[in-house]
Amino acid sequence: MKVLMVCLGNICRSPMAEGIMRAEAARQGMDIEVDSAGTSAWHVGESPDDRAVANMQQHNIDISNLRARKFEVSDFDHFDYIFVMDQNNFKDVTSSARNSDDKLKVKLLMDMTSTHTGLPVPDPYFGGDEGFENVYHMLTEACERIAAKLTSH
Ligand code: 4NP
Repeated sequence: MKVLMVCLGNICRSPMAEGIMRAEAARQGMDIEVDSAGTSAWHVGESPDDRAVANMQQHNIDISNLRARKFEVSDFDHFDYIFVMDQNNFKDVTSSARNSDDKLKVKLLMDMTSTHTGLPVPDPYFGGDEGFENVYHMLTEACERIAAKLTSH
């Protein structure tokens, strides 16, 4: 199984989602490939935001070695699922879909949860540290559900 997490900058939400999904998969002994990307090229090559790294460190997950990259059309070929953080990401990613198979791979991440269906993972970039903690908890709920779903198949 191959899973791609996508946000705008690939320095806050999606690298956190990548780290959490990896940790959850390891905890459940799942064989899964996880990556992340951004719809913008603004931060390509950069490490995750310091606040994202610090928050994840508090939860014993190290994402400091990740580097931002831009989403590319070939990601539709490589990945089974492409989880996006908000409706703008959804629009940007699906607009580069080449066919209905590509489009069907794209899911709003929070639609995997029971308590935040239809909601975006709020962009923490312009806010304070509490935004990152909120994002951590939302992402964790989603990643636990993804792991549960994928292991039950
Ligand atoms: P992300 O957050 O999409 O969760 O990585 C952002 C990072 C950078 C910017 C916006 C959102 N920015 O405007 O540079």
